[in-house]
Amino acid sequence: MSSEKKYKRYTVTSALPYANGPVHIGHLAGVYVPADIYVRYLRSKGEDVLFIGGSDEHGVPITIKAKQEGVTPQQIVDKYHNIIKKSFEELGISFDIYSRTSNKVHHETASEFFTTLYEKGEFIEKTSEQLYDEEHKQFLADRYVTGTCPHCNNDRAYGDQCEKCGTSLNATDLINPKSVLSGNVPVLKETKHWYLQLDKYEPWLRQWILEEHKEWKTNVYGQCKSWIDQGLQPRAVTRDLDWGVKVPLKEAEGKVLYVWFDAPIGYISATKEWATEKKKNWEIYWKDKETRLIHFIGKDNIVFHCIVFPSMLHAEGTYLVPDNVPANEFLNLEGDKISTSRNWAVWLHEYLQEFQGKQDVLRYVLCSNAPETKDNDFTWRDFQLKNNSELVAILGNFVNRTMVLTHKYFNGEIPAISTITDVDKETLNELSKFPERISASLESYRFREALNEMMNLARLGNKYLADSEPWKIFATDPERVKTILNISLQICANLSIVMEPFLPFSADKLGSMLNFPKLKWNDAGKPDLLKAGFRIGKAELLYEKIEDEAIALQVKKLQDTKIANESKEKPVAPAKPDISYEDFAKLDIRTGTILAAEKVPKTDKLLKLVVDTGIDKRTVVSGIAANYEPEKIIGQKVTILVNLEPKMLRGIKSQGMILMAENAKGELCFVHQEKDFENGSCIK
Ligand code: 2FM
Ligand code: ZN
Repeated sequence: MSSEKKYKRYTVTSALPYANGPVHIGHLAGVYVPADIYVRYLRSKGEDVLFIGGSDEHGVPITIKAKQEGVTPQQIVDKYHNIIKKSFEELGISFDIYSRTSNKVHHETASEFFTTLYEKGEFIEKTSEQLYDEEHKQFLADRYVTGTCPHCNNDRAYGDQCEKCGTSLNATDLINPKSVLSGNVPVLKETKHWYLQLDKYEPWLRQWILEEHKEWKTNVYGQCKSWIDQGLQPRAVTRDLDWGVKVPLKEAEGKVLYVWFDAPIGYISATKEWATEKKKNWEIYWKDKETRLIHFIGKDNIVFHCIVFPSMLHAEGTYLVPDNVPANEFLNLEGDKISTSRNWAVWLHEYLQEFQGKQDVLRYVLCSNAPETKDNDFTWRDFQLKNNSELVAILGNFVNRTMVLTHKYFNGEIPAISTITDVDKETLNELSKFPERISASLESYRFREALNEMMNLARLGNKYLADSEPWKIFATDPERVKTILNISLQICANLSIVMEPFLPFSADKLGSMLNFPKLKWNDAGKPDLLKAGFRIGKAELLYEKIEDEAIALQVKKLQDTKIANESKEKPVAPAKPDISYEDFAKLDIRTGTILAAEKVPKTDKLLKLVVDTGIDKRTVVSGIAANYEPEKIIGQKVTILVNLEPKMLRGIKSQGMILMAENAKGELCFVHQEKDFENGSCIK
């Protein structure tokens, strides 16, 4: 199996997030935290690693966001690229380069890649009918069409998906389609596109994935198998859009490469950019057989990274294909799917503001809860619990007790081991096994298991201290205490090495507290990392308890989002067709005052009102009982339509209609004049 092969270098990519919003905990748990752990581990092992990230700056969602905000797509991507880049840095995601696909080198690289495939005859050209907005003279991407979902009748479904019932759609499936640009009904118009022949690569894909990569994660392998078994179809790699990498063909005026064609090429462009800066050879990171290529992604990206991009690379002919694609499932938030558009997320840049200095807490919680084999849930209570009862109570506590005791009994000087007991031997023997165990988990992309193993080392230390109780025996047996603290300090030093990939900030802090130089993975497991006689630094807390109040604030923030979303989900009623002035002038609307009000028996909604209209005093039946109690509205100024034809309601003759405003929640309120005009004043 490929994992047994020895590689000279690693190219590790992490999915390029769309620059149409900041990153959230779902992105982190699925992709960036595991990828960063993996590369930090490899670097600690002394491997040659290139870790690539960058913003995906093309695609329709970005153009839509720009339209909504009345700015250019470039302004949108500039804004979010900077937010994303900065927040990744602050979380310690240790990219060698964080690039972006609007860069010139990317446009050139993607364009050349297309040309190579074109010249090799790898594309087929096809003409098809697509929806077109005649007013804006533009083909409409699926997202640019809305209409009624044929499955659930939601009248606000998008051309690619109905967000109410979750069905994937084609814009041409929608009932009553409308262009988002003009509101007009789109027409069908012919357009030509270039298609990658996935069907042609099917036998190769079948052999390469299904036969040669049986070791891939079950979720990834399973998805690939199902795609391949269903039979692959040619896929269009161009679009009618004006934002993206221009298709480098004369006859393709006004067309760009499909975002999923150019985005993964972004990994290659970023490598070139990095290599130029560092004066390295980019090609060996993509073409040398002794390079191992690994893509970290979320499950929605599997088909693109396991089928489409490898087919492109294979068709090009000179590139490597990935050795592994350890995709994760999704992380939910407090039981609901994370959603950028509904603001249902914990945004990284906000977390960093609100929990300053607690980068490792988030890294820890997201790794220990990573959706490796199934979707998982992030809750704020669990976040608090993991901090307080794991980081603080196990890891932080062990380190702190060891250091405080060393200061107390030996003035901060590392004591020498005197005699060694069986318990000590057993503990040191256990200690020596940890690096191997953690490595084994990391190398098979089982990051939760690896993290738990790392914590088991802290547990081992805690138990050793608790069982040997140096505080009880110092007075009678200080020699024994020397051995206990030496061994405990060796465990601390080992921890600072093996926790670095997971908790880099705390590892650094621990290293400097111990006055311990940064050592590498291969040093871990040894019982003599710290030399007797050396002095350790001041003991500081690695982690602090997170109080209920801080958690309650976050929970409240989410509740507020929920309330805001609920009212947004009830849309403002659509505009009615225009009417003539003559039609309007027919309405006789007056100011009036309610003189009397009572409930209409056996109804929930109706009140019988007597209204002074200035013209007369008349009876009006009004459906406002759910909002107003009769005794509270006597004397209320109202606006009344007086020439509505009389109607019998529950045996009462109603003459006219009180005008009410109705909000999205269906609540009603009176509409009345700003000044106290006499009853019967005309409203025009
Ligand atoms: O799903 C996404 O967020 C995409 N922007 C990921 C692209 S990954 C790679 F192809 F660039
Ligand atoms: Zn639907």
